[in-house]
Amino acid sequence: MNTAEEIVFLKEELFIGEGEHKKCYEHPGNGDLCVKVIHSAFGKRKDAIDKAIKREVGYQTAMNKNGACLLAPISRYFGTVKTNFGTGYVFELIRDGDGRISSSLHEYLKSDDVLRNFLPQLVHVLLKLREDMLSLKIVTMNIFPKNILVQKGPENIVKLVIVDNVGSASLIPLEYYIPYFALARVNRRWARFMRFLEGRYKNLLAVELLKQLAVAQPK
Ligand SMILES: Nc1ncnc2c1ncn2[C@@H]1O[C@H](COP(=O)(O)OP(=O)(O)OP(=O)(O)O)[C@@H](O)[C@H]1O
Ligand SMILES: [Mg+2]
Repeated sequence: MNTAEEIVFLKEELFIGEGEHKKCYEHPGNGDLCVKVIHSAFGKRKDAIDKAIKREVGYQTAMNKNGACLLAPISRYFGTVKTNFGTGYVFELIRDGDGRISSSLHEYLKSDDVLRNFLPQLVHVLLKLREDMLSLKIVTMNIFPKNILVQKGPENIVKLVIVDNVGSASLIPLEYYIPYFALARVNRRWARFMRFLEGRYKNLLAVELLKQLAVAQPK
């Protein structure tokens, strides 16, 4: 992304969050972007994580070619930069209408207090996500609620955005090129995602949300 030897300094104030593999920072020069670096704690497994990022990047590159990336419900990839923590991978930073960084679906699902305000909207955007994944043939690994951000406008939820784990780990990812394989994969991942939600969230409103989703979506 930056051509010169310029190093992007990721200070702790810019830290957004971390998962099991990566740390995510706000880009110091552009508030619409975030920079992901590999967790230093994963020293030995760095290669495997590098491979996972390359999968994601390879997928987004394939999507860029067919133009689907602009509409896709995934945070767009913009290339690499050098950082004080090694290679940084630059993605679109997902923010709510008020400028705050969007919370994950997990944050919404785990609490009845939060869900109470957003249940019908969440049913709507979850169904829309599934529809978009099918129509745009979005290939993902397993989908987890912590990897889906809920983008909220001033009052209502606008959409869901997948921020991690896209692409296929297959050596030759036929899903990228053959719609039949892509659709089968979306349906498989989605069924697994629903089973994960059922097993994970037992609070009253989460159960209600799943009930409504089960009624609304074709089997
Ligand atoms: N595009 C984004 N916009 C805003 N926040 C983000 C974005 N991408 C990631 N985050 C935040 O940073 C956290 C870590 O990022 P990410 O999920 O990519 O890391 P990971 O280590 O690969 O996760 P996992 O444990 O699922 O493998 C996310 O859970 C989310 O809170
Ligand atoms: Mg993650």
